[in-house]
Amino acid sequence: MIDNIAMIDNMEGRFIMGKKILVITGSPRAEGNSNTLVSAFASGAIAAGHEVEIFDAGHAKMDGCHADKSCEKRGRCGMKDDGQKMGDLMMWADALVLASPLYWKGFTSQIKIAIDHFYPFSFPKGKETIHIKETGLIATAMMPDESAFDCMVGEYEHINAVLGWESSFKLLCPGLDGAEDVSRHPEYISLAVKYGMEM
Ligand SMILES: Cc1cc2nc3c(=O)[nH]c(=O)nc-3n(C[C@H](O)[C@H](O)[C@H](O)COP(=O)(O)O)c2cc1C
Repeated sequence: MIDNIAMIDNMEGRFIMGKKILVITGSPRAEGNSNTLVSAFASGAIAAGHEVEIFDAGHAKMDGCHADKSCEKRGRCGMKDDGQKMGDLMMWADALVLASPLYWKGFTSQIKIAIDHFYPFSFPKGKETIHIKETGLIATAMMPDESAFDCMVGEYEHINAVLGWESSFKLLCPGLDGAEDVSRHPEYISLAVKYGMEM
């Protein structure tokens, strides 16, 4: 983790503190398309003075929600898994980015388990422990058309609506199949850097 950077806006002489951005990744391919885009996003965000932490839900040890609902009173997930580390990062973050390949028209099962761990933050006790305000979505798919992402985007918008977050960007990248296909799409990489700089 790099140190936070305070920048001076020379136009108006104001101090601008970089944001703390948590990126949760959901691909099992460590060097696949989504994670390449996450690296590009992070480079833009760091260049703009933000801090970036990446939580790799694609390889985390997390169990599916047990639905005992004890998190409502506790304000925090009670499962003793890597979700505890993710919960700490969610309390740290000002902004959250979800990055996932499209699997069967939705998020991967790995990142879906992480998203289910957001449940405590939908109740008052959990909600007051976090200060995330904005989100972003980075998504990749084999199908050639952006409409492939309709279900995933619907779920992303539902998460934002329930948790009171606002979407800053959606980077939807169709037409990617092999793990390195994104290298043939510099326009996707440029957009990822741009969204990182603008977040
Ligand atoms: C289990 C599985 C399900 C998939 N389902 C879809 C799908 O519904 N629509 C689609 O366009 N691509 C689908 N794909 C393709 C991936 O979304 C695509 O290869 C993506 O670029 C992988 O990203 P990654 O390299 O970051 O892992 C699927 C791939 C797998 C392995």
